[in-house]
Amino acid sequence: MRKEFAILQTCLQTAGQIARRHLGKVNYRLKSKANLVTQADVACQKAMLQIIRANFPQHDFLAEENGLKNTGSPWRWVIDPIDGTTNFAHTMPHFSISVALACKNDIVLGGVYDVCTDELFLARKGKGATLNGKKIHVSTVNKLQDALLVTGFPYEREKQINELLALFKNFILSCHDIRRLGSAALDLCWVAAGRFDGYWEKDLNPWDVCAGKLILEEAGGKITDYRGKKWQTLSLFGRQILASNGKIHREMCDIIKEGSLSHTAAARTRRPAARV
Ligand code: IPD
Ligand code: CA
Ligand code: CA
Repeated sequence: MRKEFAILQTCLQTAGQIARRHLGKVNYRLKSKANLVTQADVACQKAMLQIIRANFPQHDFLAEENGLKNTGSPWRWVIDPIDGTTNFAHTMPHFSISVALACKNDIVLGGVYDVCTDELFLARKGKGATLNGKKIHVSTVNKLQDALLVTGFPYEREKQINELLALFKNFILSCHDIRRLGSAALDLCWVAAGRFDGYWEKDLNPWDVCAGKLILEEAGGKITDYRGKKWQTLSLFGRQILASNGKIHREMCDIIKEGSLSHTAAARTRRPAARV
């Protein structure tokens, strides 16, 4: 996998340079009410797909900005050209490039590059995870009450806003604090590096999380769906993510369960009584 790993890093560096050049000169269009896309997203993706096509013409890929090649190859690159586009478009220096390589449904390589801090997170399956060449490991915090958490909110949020806020409320009353930084790939990497202890978010896509998942697991962390069940890597369904250092995972699952029960009960009492 030496060549694949080198190409993955070339992709990240090349896209990083493009993003840096575009930063501050951003014009965007909307994919939906709150979902932005910039010229930089498209240019970064184009450059990375060119590199991949030139080096691995047989490989498939799945990239966020309408980049799909699906010939049935066991090898598939999963790419988010800019993760944190809303930050990028507002010149907030917190966004990343995320690239993973999967063999069948197994992620074997993952890399996330934080362009503004020049932090490069890398992982190879079974070989650990690194940040700028140094091994990283999840935190040792073992109680939710001592944890710093991170989360994100889906773009399609209107219909589920009460449910999202109910969960946020339950978490913020149970831990040290919560951050919302705006790049799911970096959220996962920051749990991997022990900066956060846990992360939850729903309605994510494979390109947001594939690289970060491997980095987190290789750093000793755990990633599941909201019920604590195995997370289906490349499926577009069941897109909830619960990630942690492993030690507070059960407590986080319990909070989510309580949150959804109290939300369902509140929704029931809000509903007008049926006519008799
Ligand atoms: C988004 C970011 C954000 C998360 C959103 C994602 P994008 O990706 O990861 O943190 O909350 O759900 O869609 O659109 O910037 O690539
Ligand atoms: Ca993304
Ligand atoms: Ca993106």
